[in-house]
Amino acid sequence: MMSNAANSTADMYGKVCLVTGATSGIGEITAAALAARGAQVIVVGRSHQKAEDTVQRIQSETGSNSVHYLLADFADLQQIHDLVSSFRSQYSRLDVLINNAGAYFNARRQTAYGVEMTFLVNYLSPFLLTNLLLDVIKMSPAARIINVSSDAHQYGSLDFNNLEFKRGYFGMKAYARSKLANILFTYELARRLKGSTVTVNALHPGHIATDIWRTNFSVIGPILKWIMGFFAITPEEGARTSIYLASSPDVEGLTGQYYVKREAVQSSTLSYDQNLARQLWSVSEQLSGQAASS
Ligand SMILES: NC(=O)c1ccc[n+]([C@@H]2O[C@H](COP(=O)([O-])OP(=O)(O)OC[C@H]3O[C@@H](n4cnc5c(N)ncnc54)[C@H](OP(=O)(O)O)[C@@H]3O)[C@@H](O)[C@H]2O)c1
Repeated sequence: MMSNAANSTADMYGKVCLVTGATSGIGEITAAALAARGAQVIVVGRSHQKAEDTVQRIQSETGSNSVHYLLADFADLQQIHDLVSSFRSQYSRLDVLINNAGAYFNARRQTAYGVEMTFLVNYLSPFLLTNLLLDVIKMSPAARIINVSSDAHQYGSLDFNNLEFKRGYFGMKAYARSKLANILFTYELARRLKGSTVTVNALHPGHIATDIWRTNFSVIGPILKWIMGFFAITPEEGARTSIYLASSPDVEGLTGQYYVKREAVQSSTLSYDQNLARQLWSVSEQLSGQAASS
């Protein structure tokens, strides 16, 4: 699993990296690659068993003893607060935060937070997590925040009156909206962090045959994953841009960009709308009950 992803020589010794959604797919490969470079890595998962197994796999593949895990289900904002409390009680710095956890829901799921589930898991929880960790992140001399988005963001739109998607739910539409929100958030946070040493960038990892396409398609999921196998890239290839943004000296100090295949590229026109980004920020503060302080 590791060999392709771990081929950079960037030195990550002394750095603390937290990777969400690191119990499978590109998140696990990213976490393993950072551990292989000497970083202290915190795998964030939602299942105790899966997280423990992931840590063991990464430790045996990399020989690192500096891999640990914390738990949080991103469908529950209280668990984001608990995750941050646990982190703070064990660590005093955070150099790299990779908001990688993500899910796709074929059928609409209601939540208690005024948004449907895709928006909560893929966007609102990472928004809250990032803001709750921001003071610790700012203590690092050159911290990096990396938001895993998708080129699906290009088909996304935001309707603040219908964040619950009570009307017109379609899984890919909800997914695209959450991924657009990831990029609007990235650009707005970069503006708010101007003058600090913290960078924040978003990325599209490529089309990869991972579990994300299997979970909600109980019948056609395995077939979809099999079809994707013909044109999709490997998870190792998919993790490369995350690893690059987390570790390469090439991107030191670069912020507010969207990367595909380790190159900064343009995202959709809508993703650059600063009014929309400010509105999203303020709605997100209200929905998450968090007055973000960046
Ligand atoms: N695969 C692609 O083609 C593709 C394309 C563009 C963007 N992306 C993005 O890449 C990121 C990683 O996806 P992947 O392809 O590696 O898929 P994956 O293998 O399904 O990994 C997703 C990770 O997110 C975690 N997760 C899902 N729901 C969660 C929740 N409620 N709380 C906490 N963690 C949760 C999963 O945990 P469990 O292990 O417990 O399920 C898993 O570790 C996602 O943000 C995805 O949107 C993927």
